[in-house]
Amino acid sequence: MTTNVPTRHLGSLAVSAQGLGCMGMSHGYGASDDAQSIATLHHALDRGVTLLDTADFYGAGHNEELIGRAVAGRRDEVVLATKFGFANRLGEPTLVRGDAAYVRQACEASLRRLGVDHIDLYYQHRVDPQVPIEETVGAMAELVQAGKVRHLGLSEAGASTIRRAHAVHPITALQSEWSLWTRDLEAEIAPVCRELGIGLVPFSPLGRGFLTGRYSSVDGLAETDVRRSQPRFADGNLERNLAIVARIDELAAAKGVTTGQLALAWVQHRGDDVVPIPGTRRRQYLEENLAALAVELSPGDLAAIEAAAPSEQIAGTRYDATSLTFVNN
Ligand SMILES: NC(=O)c1ccc[n+]([C@@H]2O[C@H](COP(=O)([O-])OP(=O)(O)OC[C@H]3O[C@@H](n4cnc5c(N)ncnc54)[C@H](OP(=O)(O)O)[C@@H]3O)[C@@H](O)[C@H]2O)c1
Repeated sequence: MTTNVPTRHLGSLAVSAQGLGCMGMSHGYGASDDAQSIATLHHALDRGVTLLDTADFYGAGHNEELIGRAVAGRRDEVVLATKFGFANRLGEPTLVRGDAAYVRQACEASLRRLGVDHIDLYYQHRVDPQVPIEETVGAMAELVQAGKVRHLGLSEAGASTIRRAHAVHPITALQSEWSLWTRDLEAEIAPVCRELGIGLVPFSPLGRGFLTGRYSSVDGLAETDVRRSQPRFADGNLERNLAIVARIDELAAAKGVTTGQLALAWVQHRGDDVVPIPGTRRRQYLEENLAALAVELSPGDLAAIEAAAPSEQIAGTRYDATSLTFVNN
């Protein structure tokens, strides 16, 4: 199959300009079908998507095993990104670990589940407030020296943590939430990454699907779907946020693209060092999302999109109060 996905760079790491978020194939968004997920993963590789994003936390190892199965025999086509740090399971109280012994143990377990001898991009999923970042990144750097990991990343780290981490070992990418309804990294964190040459990987660039206009209520979501407990999907907030999606929808219609494509194109336009990882289990959505790479937005378009979704009008925080204590640290 022809590939027309352009290349972008995260630091020195070349990746497809859009990655594939694999979390929903095992975790968070209701039941999944492994055969469908593997077909989507293969289709992504056939289309030239190289960056696959997983974590040991997703499905308590299921997601890494699934991706391991999907990339078996195609390892050279893939930039495999995974994460460590959540030592609890979904639904249990959050336990973040970044001590050196845990980093080593988590990496061995991820390599085993993925069925590979190295990870291309290894992220700390959340900064451990009990452990100096120098210890965590020091242990991650030893994994690079041992050939088990090629590049290091952080997720939801704050500006000063990023600086301290980068002083221990070059950080290739910061993966943090960034979309039309979550822009908190723009003021301080993204500028520090740019100063240091660290690439930016926006997660949940479609606002967990909300910015596609697909959800007008949580009624159709599985009982276990994490969005049911997220403030922006709560009664009252959801209705106010739908008014914002309606405005994005109008702009998208005027441009002849879908609502999700416009939201994703806005993220893609944040800079050449930005590689979003929209998540999907379906080939149809993968195609729709890849087509957003070709959507050109003028400065006037960008201003109109931003005026349609002012941050102060977004109702509800992006995580619950406990989870919020673990972001931008
Ligand atoms: N570092 C972190 O802490 C962190 C946190 C969250 C996520 N992530 C990573 O970021 C990736 C993406 O984030 P996300 O999955 O939370 O959110 P997202 O990419 O904003 O949205 C995913 C949701 O949107 C739906 N969707 C995707 N494309 C669509 C389209 N074109 N039309 C309609 N619906 C569409 C998906 O449906 P289907 O699944 O049904 O196809 C899924 O429900 C994850 O997979 C994960 O790898 C990282």
